[in-house]
Amino acid sequence: MRRIEFPDGFTWGAATSSFQIEGAWNEDGKGESIWDLASHTPGIIKNNDTADIACDHYHQYKEDVQIMKKMGLKAYRFSIAWPRIFPRGQGEINPKGVQFYDNLINELLANGIEPFTDLYHWDLPLALNRLGGWENREVGDAYVEYATFIFNHYGDRVKNWITFNEPMIFALYYYILGLYGKKGNFSGGICASHLVNVAHAKAIKAYRSCEYPDGKIGITLNPFPLYPITESALDKEAVTVVDGLVNRWFLDPVFKASYPPDTFELLSKTIDLSLITENDLKLLKENPMDFLGINLYSCWRIGARKKEDLNNLFKLIGKLATPLKNKKNIESSETGWEVYPEGLFDILKRIDYDYNHPLIYITENGMACKDDIIVGRIVQDDDRLSYLKRYIEKASKAMNDGVNLKGYFVWSLMDNFEMFEGYEKKFGLIKIDYETQERIWKKSALWYRDMIKANSFPFS
Ligand code: FCB
Repeated sequence: MRRIEFPDGFTWGAATSSFQIEGAWNEDGKGESIWDLASHTPGIIKNNDTADIACDHYHQYKEDVQIMKKMGLKAYRFSIAWPRIFPRGQGEINPKGVQFYDNLINELLANGIEPFTDLYHWDLPLALNRLGGWENREVGDAYVEYATFIFNHYGDRVKNWITFNEPMIFALYYYILGLYGKKGNFSGGICASHLVNVAHAKAIKAYRSCEYPDGKIGITLNPFPLYPITESALDKEAVTVVDGLVNRWFLDPVFKASYPPDTFELLSKTIDLSLITENDLKLLKENPMDFLGINLYSCWRIGARKKEDLNNLFKLIGKLATPLKNKKNIESSETGWEVYPEGLFDILKRIDYDYNHPLIYITENGMACKDDIIVGRIVQDDDRLSYLKRYIEKASKAMNDGVNLKGYFVWSLMDNFEMFEGYEKKFGLIKIDYETQERIWKKSALWYRDMIKANSFPFS
């Protein structure tokens, strides 16, 4: 048994997002988001669950902040629901929505918890989706208007900002799934991913010239550790191809103000990429970010059956969405995602090396597991506990190996509405009894509390 130690000042936190926990979907002047529409449309979400009430955090935020305090969290990562602030996405501001985040931020600060504020965790105002969503440059400009307001209003108290959460998912994968309209809209997703990068750069520019530019601003990506299924040259090549699209297509623009040439070339065979202009890349170059947030849960094992597969990125990526469930000898979570802690180490080292030693926060890491065994009012989530210990140990190993990692956030503070999966998949440190809205501690939450207190934990 040895002790895994963390440096003083390491930021321990937990993360949530507005749509997944707040509820109050149409209260106090909030506008509708694309996820309100999706969850109110039968057949999209598992069991037709909605997030109308979710964890009722909108009303219970004070109690939730007390839980964070008891857990000893140094920081809390939450997102702002854009349609609470601008019900139609732009133009008129909703003072009651603004007040809610004032209250939350003040409550956090009064309890010694640092806010890490995510401007966009997928709940696009519906009115903007009707304009074409992220495929339309004007939507990016509406986002910058929203971001500018947020920086000027909350920036006196919030010093850590995240422009976007996981563009790979909302600006590419969801286009492929058809959440925003027609299914399989790969080219729309590629356009959207670029315009999101442009909006990211413009938001950074707006931040640097806002009234309180003295904090740090970054983006959260979800880079995947990728491994070939076999050692064959074809499988290894497949890894490079997929890596280009799911990793470098998102990392390169925000770090290097360019797109990976191999992926660009491959995509340009079937997609018109002329919307990527010199001017856009210049904007990215002139507005570098301060840190990278990484969300990491699992890894992907990649293989290709024939050479031609490599030319069809869309098909190759489609196959990856198949969960690993029922595969023998592979440890996986309730979502079917492989548990492979070494993947976190690999990604951290690789990003450190490829992108010139950036400041990194792990902005999400965690797992879905069962919560049906309760002993003495504590949920026995031993699988999660084991997962967290092993992943956090790899984070420490990467730091000892020189990676500039400054913080770690568990996904999630509490069970919540897991998008397409509804309430079935449970990621929380705290269980929510949705009938009573009671908050119930899990074993992992108690361990996390003790670990934060000691800033270290025994590991074998
Ligand atoms: C991430 C999302 C987060 C949550 C987890 C399980 O992709 O950022 O909101 O749904 O997955």
